[in-house]
Amino acid sequence: MNTVTVADEAAIQYAADLLRQGNLVAFPTETVYGLGADALNPSAVKRIFAAKGRPTNHPLIVHIASAHLLSDWAINVPDEAYQLAAQFWPGPLAMIVNKRSHIPNEVTGGQDTVGLRVPNHPIALKLLHTFGGGIAAPSANRFCRISPTQAQHVAEELGRAVELILDGGACQVGVESTIIDLTGKQPRLLRPGQISVTALEEVLQTKLLTVLSHETNQHIAPGMMAVHYAPSTPAILCSGADIDNMAETWIRQGKRVGKLLLQPSLTVSQEHDLCLPAQAEDYAQGLYAALRILDSWQLGVILIEQPPTSITWQAVNDRLKKATHRA
Ligand code: TXA
Ligand code: MG
Repeated sequence: MNTVTVADEAAIQYAADLLRQGNLVAFPTETVYGLGADALNPSAVKRIFAAKGRPTNHPLIVHIASAHLLSDWAINVPDEAYQLAAQFWPGPLAMIVNKRSHIPNEVTGGQDTVGLRVPNHPIALKLLHTFGGGIAAPSANRFCRISPTQAQHVAEELGRAVELILDGGACQVGVESTIIDLTGKQPRLLRPGQISVTALEEVLQTKLLTVLSHETNQHIAPGMMAVHYAPSTPAILCSGADIDNMAETWIRQGKRVGKLLLQPSLTVSQEHDLCLPAQAEDYAQGLYAALRILDSWQLGVILIEQPPTSITWQAVNDRLKKATHRA
């Protein structure tokens, strides 16, 4: 596996050639790094599942170069899709629509629908334009692990399973795209992300359905599985008021404790404490890298200070819930 810092045309050409030959290329998007393959090449797509250790019935998002291509990939495209695309593409929004029949079952997990997204990252867009087709790409991590937000994370997760990693530095959004399902009677939120429910409802002029946890169906959206995005170290959410007492309790039990705190924090007292900004978008950007660092210290437990629960923190709280869920 090669890691290439992308500035020049040649690296993108090389990446596009690798995709044409059925290889895997990891590339940066504004959300997280994706593990890409030619979306119309079933054997290349199968390699994604093998590299990630992901069950084959978990559908992939197809990345496309522009909203103009929506009808190349989807049939019966609802007006809502065009309205959302006009407002949010390129950007961190994936839409589930009815798929065209030429999209391989390997991409969609055998479903009649497909997830589509135009990523807002110059390298991803350049790769899409140069390649000239759709790129099926899940997050470039092993199944159920934390998504990578830096090229180095991809190398650590996937090693030789990926032919090339395009290094575009740290991802700006830091958590995966918002997913909206437009195939039902009413639009449905499947995964919260930086684009909020409020912003979507404003464009659609209608309320979104939200899939409740008891309805969670990993076949529909494995991103909604309770255990996902998880560090290996047990992680626990607790309030800022309780976190020091909690830490003491664990330390008394002989555990090495790390904390993930909100800035500004007076409780950064231990060697293994990290702080993230108290602004939702900045926190989201740093979250996965911070969890990886905490995980690498092989602590007994990670205590995470509960951030605010307002709507702007919805995506962060969703990921923290998943990171701290124990089966
Ligand atoms: O931000 C992102 O979306 C990143 C970057 C690389 O674009 N990709 C990403 O892909 O997060 P992945 O595979 O890790 O998560 C995609 C989610 C999964 O939960 C999957 O179930 C859901 O999208 N999904 C894809 N196609 C679907 C479909 N046809 N119906 C329902 N859910 C679908
Ligand atoms: Mg993922």
